[in-house]
Amino acid sequence: MTRPIIIDTDPGQDDAVAVCLALAAPDALTVLGITTVAGNVPLALTTINALKTVELCGRTDVPIHAGAAGPLVGEAVTAEHVHGRTGLDGYDLPTPAIAAASSDAVGFLRETLEAHPPGAVTLCCLGPLTNLALLLKRHPDAAARLHSVVLMGGAYFEVGNITPAAEFNIYADPEAAAKVFASGLELTVMPLDVTHQLLLTEARKSALAAIGNRVSDVIDGWVNFFERFDLDKYGADGAPLHDPSVIAYLLQPELFSGRHINVEIECESPLTRGMSVMDWWRVTDRKPNAQVMGSVDADGFYALLCERLGHFGGGR
Ligand code: RIB
Ligand code: CA
Repeated sequence: MTRPIIIDTDPGQDDAVAVCLALAAPDALTVLGITTVAGNVPLALTTINALKTVELCGRTDVPIHAGAAGPLVGEAVTAEHVHGRTGLDGYDLPTPAIAAASSDAVGFLRETLEAHPPGAVTLCCLGPLTNLALLLKRHPDAAARLHSVVLMGGAYFEVGNITPAAEFNIYADPEAAAKVFASGLELTVMPLDVTHQLLLTEARKSALAAIGNRVSDVIDGWVNFFERFDLDKYGADGAPLHDPSVIAYLLQPELFSGRHINVEIECESPLTRGMSVMDWWRVTDRKPNAQVMGSVDADGFYALLCERLGHFGGGR
């Protein structure tokens, strides 16, 4: 078996591209299942969107398990202003013919981890960390069987994208994030500091569109919708493609560089709730708890993405 992974996600166009990238690399990754969480849009929609994505990729063998409908504490925060009402605006995929395998994502995580050797399975977290936090709380022994967690979340130099201080995935469930960063699990973090280097410039969008299969056509629609928020906000020459960075790290870790530092999550302050306080310069004696990426070879990332997406056969 190639590297077994589980993807925990809140699709979201960028999440869906990450799932497509993972499913485009069966020679390297075995996707054991996908767990969904409320995030960019409510859970019912993130679950439908995950089903649509595996159908698009011709991989309805990959089970989808719905998870948490909201954060550990407080009300759910969503991001329709970025992803549209459906969460996958930009290309209308048909209503899925398949259904979720269960509404017990945490149970699926535990069962799958217990069915594989300790240290075998990597969890890729692309949304709020609620499901992982619940696994840590309910089944710590199962969680300890994880090889590692690679997650998109947080920010340091880039500061916040949903508040002035907080990145969305962390802000949507700060208590869950705090539990994850205190867990002792091996964590690799793709913060906005890295994903904001992965800008979907016109040249890169053209390269994606030129792939010319159905998956790339759908992705072209998604990214042309998804980019408008960031273009308006940052005025950059492209929108950041956040979540595929997690999968790209598994496929080509050498594209990324970072440092092992301490990350703490602010949960109390109304002003900075959800802030990821990253001791990048090691000015405290807090114990390092995460490998935080700070730079990425963006051209290498997009070359990988285009090469892999080209593997999806079938015409338009
Ligand atoms: O802040 C970006 C993150 O929040 C991405 O994972 C995006 O999909 C949203 O979940
Ligand atoms: Ca996401």
